[in-house]
Amino acid sequence: MDEIIRRLRRFSFEKLFRVVRTTLNKEKNIPGRERQETIDNFHKLFFQDRCDRFKWFGVDIIKYPTDLITYQEIIYETKPDLIIECGTNQGGSALFFAHLFDLIGRGEIVTIDIYNKNGPKHNRINYLNGKSTSREILEQVKSFLGKGKRVMVILDSDHDKNNVLKELKAYNKMVSEGCYLIVEDSNMNGHPVHKNFGAGPMEAIEEFMENNNDFEVDKTREKFLLTANPRGFLKKIKSKN
Ligand SMILES: C[S@@+](CC[C@H](N)C(=O)[O-])C[C@H]1O[C@@H](n2cnc3c(N)ncnc32)[C@H](O)[C@@H]1O
Repeated sequence: MDEIIRRLRRFSFEKLFRVVRTTLNKEKNIPGRERQETIDNFHKLFFQDRCDRFKWFGVDIIKYPTDLITYQEIIYETKPDLIIECGTNQGGSALFFAHLFDLIGRGEIVTIDIYNKNGPKHNRINYLNGKSTSREILEQVKSFLGKGKRVMVILDSDHDKNNVLKELKAYNKMVSEGCYLIVEDSNMNGHPVHKNFGAGPMEAIEEFMENNNDFEVDKTREKFLLTANPRGFLKKIKSKN
């Protein structure tokens, strides 16, 4: 009797082990469609629970944690001298970039917002108040550009397609070869969140890329699977300046 029980136990343990091993192996190779569904479902949950709202050194920052690591990689690799950011909000992202520049030992930020908000004070951050595509603001931004300066641009203001397209047209020439033009929140309008937003950053990117040979969509920057900026990491590959 004892022998039978021992055998039965051994058998079920081995079977269980086999089932677990098969399941784990399956997880390693989730097929394409199921994989994308899993990513999108998590993305929707993350967005719905406002997990993109948290603080950087006590200041509100509206970025996904995965994207912050991507920003860190891009900034460390490309070492821009200047980051132009359209859309300051509370200044959390500007402060994040300033802290990275502190660690690198160079670089400054120009951040623009239509509303005058009291962002955190930091000697690398310059605040401009006005509409990102207005003549006055563009004049002020140009005064920060200098010969040989490596420039990166982030578009994170009004996410309506028309505004993003205007910003793309106004700012793309300022980006240096090898540096990035990042279009934020292309996940809106059902890509995969905020289904009823209407044409937004993703649609602006599509139209911009149809008529532009200076940039490529760098999908490698989406390696963490969760990004607010699908197809939004645009790398300047050659400069016609
Ligand atoms: C998404 S928030 C910016 C988030 C911030 N970059 C961060 O990561 O924490 C967008 C900001 O853009 C500003 N904004 C909206 N339309 C604008 C425009 N046309 N020009 C400049 N700023 C604008 C809003 O006032 C708002 O503070």
